[in-house]
Amino acid sequence: IPVDPFDLVIFGGTGDLARRKILPGLYRRFLAGQMPEDARIIGAARSELDDDAYRAFVRDAVDEFVRPDRKDVGQIDAFLSRLHYVTIDAKGTGGWQELAGLMRDGVIRSFYFSVAPGLFGDLAERLHDHDIADADSRIVVEKPFGRDLSSAKALNATLAEHFNESQIYRIDHYLGKETVQNLMAVRFGNVLFEPLWNSQYVDHIQITVAETVGVGGRGSYYDRSGAMRDMVQNHLMQLLCLIAMEPPSRFNPDAVRDEKLKVIRALEPVEPYQIVRGQYQADADGPSYREDVENPRSLTESFIAMKLHVSNWRWAGTPFYLRTGKRLRARASEIAVVFKDAPHSIFGDEAGHHRNILTIRLQPDEGMTLGVTIKEPGPGGMRLIDVPLDMTFAEALGPESEEIPDAYERLIMDVIRGNQTLFMRGDEVEAAWSWTDPIIEGWEARGDAPKPYEPGTAGPEESQMLMHREGRRWREIR
Ligand code: BG6
Repeated sequence: IPVDPFDLVIFGGTGDLARRKILPGLYRRFLAGQMPEDARIIGAARSELDDDAYRAFVRDAVDEFVRPDRKDVGQIDAFLSRLHYVTIDAKGTGGWQELAGLMRDGVIRSFYFSVAPGLFGDLAERLHDHDIADADSRIVVEKPFGRDLSSAKALNATLAEHFNESQIYRIDHYLGKETVQNLMAVRFGNVLFEPLWNSQYVDHIQITVAETVGVGGRGSYYDRSGAMRDMVQNHLMQLLCLIAMEPPSRFNPDAVRDEKLKVIRALEPVEPYQIVRGQYQADADGPSYREDVENPRSLTESFIAMKLHVSNWRWAGTPFYLRTGKRLRARASEIAVVFKDAPHSIFGDEAGHHRNILTIRLQPDEGMTLGVTIKEPGPGGMRLIDVPLDMTFAEALGPESEEIPDAYERLIMDVIRGNQTLFMRGDEVEAAWSWTDPIIEGWEARGDAPKPYEPGTAGPEESQMLMHREGRRWREIR
């Protein structure tokens, strides 16, 4: 379904995110017929470019980041003709008159702040001063949304000077992933799971977001953040919320976000011994973390594993284990809901222990698997084995699933549609920082040093212990 006509201004329009994600994503939506005839995209950045030079830049981005079979080369010119460029000085006056002159009446005006957070305030103010933004305009802001509670509050306050909450779209691109949204469909669209979705039946939940890449190239940002700020405070927290939240009364932005907020507020403080931090070492394929960030004494973590508790009636007694890291064995993100043993085994001890595990794979090979215990075929008596009921979305849904939009393109279209369900509300972000701040402050106060780990593994040995000492184990990363 095409959306209403829009002007989308991308501040930081020549930046890395624009090149890799935003512009290629918009092109794919264009190919999918979702962009109305008179939609326009205006790149705005410091570089002195004209429309033609910007179009050449976007053509290269599409070349590099859109899959060859999706490129539809014949259409690229039609797409590029929607693009314009303004050289802008975010802190000064240059370019703002020109931008104001470009904006059209009667279309949705959206502004993507793909710039350093330090510029959010300047952009908001100038959009306001030059009457570029109107009451229906939307602004999109990227993470990192602050680096602690006080900076996040300051950012929220700055944006609130010129925009109200219903105009602010804080992106967490994990919420745009197909399977992440499927979590809600699976939980609240089926009668099968929800009755079991509590501490009476669930032994524990594991959330893993493993990456093979290191931090090379982003060292200066990453070394000041670490896995806790870069991944846990936002992406893993959002996954945890969707897994743990109560059913919202309806699928609308505030109903969903109210429930997520309650989960974050119900998180217990985490004891230091429930957290394992790690830092990757060098191997034949690449330098060590400390070399990557050019900081030989860095105490920042590139890996973290932790055990958490959500203190409410549903989850008291069911631990949640989270882990994420760079340079691990595989790029594999999944959530595993591990159910408890059957209360009594009628098959005796030799049948062994069997547990149902629901695994939701976010990437790659998006899908769901439910481990079910059955009888081993053959005459050998009542021997039990676990087999997967496996649904790989690409197989189950056929060629159409090839067309699944990438997280960014879906979220940008939601901005134009005015749907905030998959964006973080200001209070959610602040609540997440309130929970992470004391943990990070604790490390800093103690001078906590991350444990070294070999690249290509599942992280430091100690993270295995986090589970083993309680008779549990992580699922393999593969
Ligand atoms: C980003 C982090 O938000 O998410 C990166 O800053 C990380 O460090 C990335 O690599 C992971 O996203 P995805 O979509 O590749 O899982």
